Amino acid sequence: MAILERFRLDGKRAVITGGSRGLGRAIAQALAEAGADLVLVARDADTLAQAQTQLLTTGRRVDVVVGDLSTPEGTETVCQTILERFAPIDILVNNVGGRRINVPTEDLALADWQRILDLNLTSAFLCSRELGRHMVQRRQGSIINIASIAGLIVFRGIAGRTYEVAKAALIHLTRTLAADWAPFGVRVNAIAPGAFLTDANRRWFQEMPQLRTKVESQIPLGRLGNPEEIGPAAVFLASDASSYMTGTVLVLDGGHTLW
Ligand SMILES: NC(=O)c1ccc[n+]([C@@H]2O[C@H](COP(=O)([O-])OP(=O)(O)OC[C@H]3O[C@@H](n4cnc5c(N)ncnc54)[C@H](OP(=O)(O)O)[C@@H]3O)[C@@H](O)[C@H]2O)c1
Repeated sequence: MAILERFRLDGKRAVITGGSRGLGRAIAQALAEAGADLVLVARDADTLAQAQTQLLTTGRRVDVVVGDLSTPEGTETVCQTILERFAPIDILVNNVGGRRINVPTEDLALADWQRILDLNLTSAFLCSRELGRHMVQRRQGSIINIASIAGLIVFRGIAGRTYEVAKAALIHLTRTLAADWAPFGVRVNAIAPGAFLTDANRRWFQEMPQLRTKVESQIPLGRLGNPEEIGPAAVFLASDASSYMTGTVLVLDGGHTLW
């Protein structure tokens, strides 16, 4: 097969959690351009509809599911809807997540700890369990977990360490699932982004204007990532181009973790 053909995703259907904005939206664009049909999940119906309209211009089928993945119950409901309406699913991108709190550990409420774990880790576990079970039965599938370099190092200048813990666990969930599901032809990999310019970070930079300069000074390439720069990595991991890769973490951070 010609080399670029191995990156094609024609005839595949991809679920992207948090696919309406930010990195998830950029991944959706890339997967659709590579030929995949999409199912996008997010809470806000209007933003989802907007993303759907834009993504339909790729010529792919684009479906949306409105749901909240911040609770186990919400996540299970979303998975049921996806399986009832859109199975079979070939590609799952567990992208929902975020830090959302800047509270030192000595003051961190248990409820906040749990909420951030549920959002970043439990949602990925449940989506992988529910959709991955069918991939295992079908002997094919690719799961991509959007972790963070915060799962590899500890960020300076911001607290809320549940995030680091959840992303580190997500990376190890990636490895355990990869080992367990390799015999069934299901590959599981992670992407660990550094700092990208999405709404989540715009909010942090608004609250703490000095943070952006500080973060940029920690990145050898000297700038934040643009969301579209994650797309090619997602296509690679989703497609046969990475057929011999499972359990890996692709670091996409402008060199942030080099120093
Ligand atoms: N941006 C970065 O620099 C960066 C760096 C490292 C890792 N990451 C990781 O990359 C992922 C995406 O980050 P991002 O910056 O692109 O985030 P974002 O801009 O805040 O976008 C988040 C997406 O997820 C959806 N979403 C948020 N909460 C949800 C919930 N409870 N249930 C369902 N959907 C939900 C949002 O839509 P609704 O609000 O409508 O629900 C939106 O589509 C996260 O896992 C994050 O930890 C990001």
